[in-house]
Amino acid sequence: MPGFPPRSWGRARVETFTVEPTAVQLTWVGLGRGPLAISVGGERHMVDSDGGPGGLVVGGLSPAAAHRIHVDGPGIPDRRRSFTVRTPAPPPGPELFRFATVSDVHLGADHFGLTKRMRERGQVAEPHPERCGQAAIAEAMGWGAEMLVVKGDLVDAGSAEQWDDADRLLATAGVPVSMVPGNHEVRRDRPTAGPLLLPLSGAEITMGVRCHDLPGLRLVTVNSTVDGHGHGAVRHIADEVATLAAEADGPVFVAMHHYAQRFEVPWFWPPGIPGREARQFLSTVARANPRALVTSGHTHRNRIRRHGPVVVTEVGSTKDFPGVWAGYVVHEGGIVQTVRRTLAPEAMRWTEYTRRAVGGIWGRWSIGSLDDRCISHTWPR
Ligand SMILES: [Fe+2]
Ligand SMILES: [Fe+2]
Repeated sequence: MPGFPPRSWGRARVETFTVEPTAVQLTWVGLGRGPLAISVGGERHMVDSDGGPGGLVVGGLSPAAAHRIHVDGPGIPDRRRSFTVRTPAPPPGPELFRFATVSDVHLGADHFGLTKRMRERGQVAEPHPERCGQAAIAEAMGWGAEMLVVKGDLVDAGSAEQWDDADRLLATAGVPVSMVPGNHEVRRDRPTAGPLLLPLSGAEITMGVRCHDLPGLRLVTVNSTVDGHGHGAVRHIADEVATLAAEADGPVFVAMHHYAQRFEVPWFWPPGIPGREARQFLSTVARANPRALVTSGHTHRNRIRRHGPVVVTEVGSTKDFPGVWAGYVVHEGGIVQTVRRTLAPEAMRWTEYTRRAVGGIWGRWSIGSLDDRCISHTWPR
């Protein structure tokens, strides 16, 4: 019978998930049981493999340098025993602030995959969206995030009970929380978004456009939803976003749920913001303030591209493969985006299980390349 947990974890893999100026995140799955010795730049780290998924962050690395990594233990594929990663240089100037984003937590969802057959077997004390969301937030806070931005689809159906769960979840962050709604918060026949301020966590929900001046940049949160629909729209708020971007003292970080489609008609599911409208929006932002990063969720995948001087990113979901949160390190002269897999076993075992969705295509599609997850970006002058 299909379901979670799986009978087998599939073929052995060791992956370099994240490379940042001073850290790397390595993940693995399907190795033998036993101790793993991981050396990075000559420093040795010992961890235990239980045959399932696992991971390790190694920090304290020198930026803009090549680092030799050697992994030793049971069941490691030969070509992943030794490899080199190159850390990027950080943007100019000191670090001023760091914050995190999560998206597509989907509290209340009970399945994944096209056939809806990927489910947890039996009675589950804490369903996977809760486990994955909680662990992602805890790991982002452990990393040092001073603020949390939630990019929509926090709840799956928007019932009062799910909003209560959402509020309790966000309260675990212990830092200011700002949220934009996703299409799952504005579904037809369901209460449109929760209260604008969640009582326990103090999380604010942007129903139009809002801005916060943070150290080193202006955060602009945008509601890109269309009531009762899955796709997004930004035409009606583009001028407001442009004014806020133009009037910012420094760079601008725009957070919304829907992604900018490249084409008028979406060529994959789910639909985002139609191509022409999306390009106009990004051009408007670029003209108003070329020192900009625009980021979205919704696709549950990781991608980075550019629209002129603007960096445009999509970041995956907390609850399905690869199961991530994003960290942003704001420097005087730029910004670092890192996308890290949530490593807590109670989260990672589920997200690793969903790698095999859509006949395994999901695992190859959603993860993106290293350059689709991590960037050290210097703002243009
Ligand atoms: Fe979603
Ligand atoms: Fe969505």
